[in-house]
Amino acid sequence: MDNRGEWSSKLGFILAASGSAIGLGNIWRFPYITGANGGGAFVLVYLLCVFVVAFPIMIVELVIGRKSKKDPVGAFKTIAPGSKWWIIGAMGVMAGFGILSYYSVVAGWTVAYIVKGISGGLTVSNLDPAVLFSRFAANGKLQIFYLFVFSAMTVYVVIGGVKDGIEKAARVLLPLLFLLMVVLIVYVLTLPGAINGVKFYIIPDFSKINSHTILMAMGQAFFSLSLGMGAMITYGSYLPDDDDLFSSAFYVTFFDTLIAILAGFIIFPALGGAPTKSGPSLVFVVLVDVFRKIPFGGVIAVIFFTLMAIAALTSTVSLLEVVTAYLIDEKGMERKKAAIGAGFLIAILGIPSALSLGANRWLTRIGFLDKMDFIFGNIFLTFGGFMMCLFVAYKWGLECFLEHLSEGCQHVGKPHFNGWLKIAIYFICPLAIAILLLYLILTGESLG
Ligand code: TRP
Repeated sequence: MDNRGEWSSKLGFILAASGSAIGLGNIWRFPYITGANGGGAFVLVYLLCVFVVAFPIMIVELVIGRKSKKDPVGAFKTIAPGSKWWIIGAMGVMAGFGILSYYSVVAGWTVAYIVKGISGGLTVSNLDPAVLFSRFAANGKLQIFYLFVFSAMTVYVVIGGVKDGIEKAARVLLPLLFLLMVVLIVYVLTLPGAINGVKFYIIPDFSKINSHTILMAMGQAFFSLSLGMGAMITYGSYLPDDDDLFSSAFYVTFFDTLIAILAGFIIFPALGGAPTKSGPSLVFVVLVDVFRKIPFGGVIAVIFFTLMAIAALTSTVSLLEVVTAYLIDEKGMERKKAAIGAGFLIAILGIPSALSLGANRWLTRIGFLDKMDFIFGNIFLTFGGFMMCLFVAYKWGLECFLEHLSEGCQHVGKPHFNGWLKIAIYFICPLAIAILLLYLILTGESLG
């Protein structure tokens, strides 16, 4: 157990876990779905989902991790020996594999756009950004190249280990991310028309809230907080026993939500109103078009894509760490070999996703990347979160769970705190997630 590694301090953990949570999901998915689903009204629904449904699950994962001091598979084997609950952990490791494979493709685009930005390719040419993006997306060799570049960056950090790799990277990168965001927000707010974007973003339109939007908010909360696949079990397993898990979970949830909301204050003022496009094209086409037209646009573009790359890197690191921890704890592999081996295989698995944006006709037609996102980023995560709730409620037992949480957390024992966690874990979370899971399966529609 000694050589598994441990965070150097509470702050170290909070930064690393926030790094996992803060990712592409915050920078471009959150602003867009907020814009499309009622602006400020959606933010309120999202906050409700975060604190009512997602936050208790974050605590559940961290407790399972810290109690067992193991990877997700080992965690269930340790707490419930002889049972089949480890399968949830195994599904989590698979989800890490799956999500990382396509997530690295999109993360690779941010590096490509930094390079394009520095070489002036984004702003000086009179090429339409939409054409630029679709040509880039359809260039199979380049797609694979950047997928491997990003995977190599991820592997490099994970090889460094818990304290000297993951935590150190987060300590440098997260403050930098925050600084770059503030610079960008201040700048875009001075642009003409910025106020229209802000208005669009924050004025609530409650007529857009319906059951679909609520489920969308819940799926987004899950993905954004890195829940449902054991990333937080793994990060929690490197926590010392006396840490106040409740406050740690709260800080991570708070920072993740803050960054998501702030990202909207970059995108909408820059657009000067409602977005016309969604998904990849919002950032890689519409925003690039804005950068071409504003003063210092070239520099701003480089700053923006650097920020996205940073957010993505601290997230890919957490995804790879889940798989790496599994190989170390369960298969007795050495960290370096585990990280390189897993990283390489995942990059190979990413190839079909990389070729599904125009390079290969068949993969493009079936929308391989989106399918991967649906299966792993939606179904696996919600199912995992659901099963983890059931595990604590009906297998491990809430009493044992609370007993472990109480080490370091002074709230445990207070009736309202225990009552709240009990209601959340027994009823609210499993029920809400079950509805989301059913909706996903029945509609076959991606949410996260
Ligand atoms: N939360 C990250 C984002 O918002 C993505 C991510 C990293 C993730 N690790 C995860 C999602 C584990 C689910 C599970 O982009």
